[in-house]
Amino acid sequence: MDSRIAPSILSADFARLGEEVRNVVAAGADWIHFDVMDNHYVPNLTIGPLVCEAIRPHVPVPIDVHLMVEPVDALVPMFAKAGANVITFHPEASRHVDRTLALIRDQGCKAGLVFNPATPLAYMDHVMDKLDLVLLMSVNPGFGGQAFIPEALAKLAQARTRIDAYQRTSGRPILLEIDGGVKVDNIRSIAAAGADTFVAGSAIFGAKDYKATIDAMRREIAAAQRAGT
Ligand code: DX5
Ligand code: ZN
Repeated sequence: MDSRIAPSILSADFARLGEEVRNVVAAGADWIHFDVMDNHYVPNLTIGPLVCEAIRPHVPVPIDVHLMVEPVDALVPMFAKAGANVITFHPEASRHVDRTLALIRDQGCKAGLVFNPATPLAYMDHVMDKLDLVLLMSVNPGFGGQAFIPEALAKLAQARTRIDAYQRTSGRPILLEIDGGVKVDNIRSIAAAGADTFVAGSAIFGAKDYKATIDAMRREIAAAQRAGT
């Protein structure tokens, strides 16, 4: 199974953001994870489409926009125009989940749902055909640097089973992403539980050597994959 590491720029130095994203891509980042918080859906306020547009020329890899906002729909075309490649949102924050997923794809982006720790996976049941990605939160959304909630491992395994069953009948892949508290020392068990796309903020941007950290994460993911085959 191929995997992706998506550093979250929430933990980057915002005074030097262009340089930070260039450095982390040079260090091997597969995606850039872009956390949007609105002080309404979550109790924090971060960055919007202007910043996405500003970093776009510095980022030769996909930008993965994680919308922690309510309502969702008006921001979708704005982020698509600002250069987003992937847009995910929390189902509780959209009045019409199916419509929002369709809107994201209409705007030319990959679409995904984000599940908070207590949000049941059932939200995906009737929209599988509209999902390119499922993102499980392993912390409560709003802040970087929180501890991984271990129950997320069991939830990942359940999501993996659903996605694999769908892929067998449809032939179409859906990515399974994990976000929150991912570190070098727990990423192996997270990969073993079924994640294929790994967001890490403080673990990468808090490290002196981004490449050494990303390389170490890849080695751990590869070890999980070897053990699973
Ligand atoms: C939390 C954000 C995460 C966060 C991850 O609400 O969605 O993407 O930046 O940061 P770490 O890896 O430090 O938990
Ligand atoms: Zn995120």
